[in-house]
Amino acid sequence: MLDKKVTDLLNQQVNKEFYSAYLYLDFSNYFQEEGLEGFANWYKIQAQEERDHAMLFVEYLQNNGEKVTLEAIAKPDAKLDSLKAPLEKGLEHERYVTSLIHTIYEAAHEAKDFRTMQFLDWFVKEQGEEETNAEGLVKKFDLFCSDPKGLYMVDSELGSRTYSAPSLTL
Ligand code: FEO
Repeated sequence: MLDKKVTDLLNQQVNKEFYSAYLYLDFSNYFQEEGLEGFANWYKIQAQEERDHAMLFVEYLQNNGEKVTLEAIAKPDAKLDSLKAPLEKGLEHERYVTSLIHTIYEAAHEAKDFRTMQFLDWFVKEQGEEETNAEGLVKKFDLFCSDPKGLYMVDSELGSRTYSAPSLTL
């Protein structure tokens, strides 16, 4: 049995990660409609990674004999009114997710729940990478995407991203 507060936060995180998947799928659809298949590919893979994150929280709860409670996933509500908007929203969202992971970590620390702290270590590191990637996309957009040729090149580069399963196994 895990601490009640930690369990509740882990359950909430399942929902947050599925929401992240939904949000990035929305970004992917937006870029697809705009004819930027590379950006669409990048965010589709991002959505797959978020689904994986959600499943890791599900499995961790199950492995510790805790009930998984699935709540409704909110409708993605990011206003996508420019090509740069999803990139900025993505960065903002990843910073928010980092704060959520840190909150769970803090609760686990308070409860002396070392097992959950160890589980979360992977996510702490992962969030560092997620923020770096999101910042990188914003920077790349600012540097190269002000003309069609640059946009084409960046889109081609993002089109080469491939999916790989998370390095964390439970
Ligand atoms: Fe599940 Fe993008 O963090």
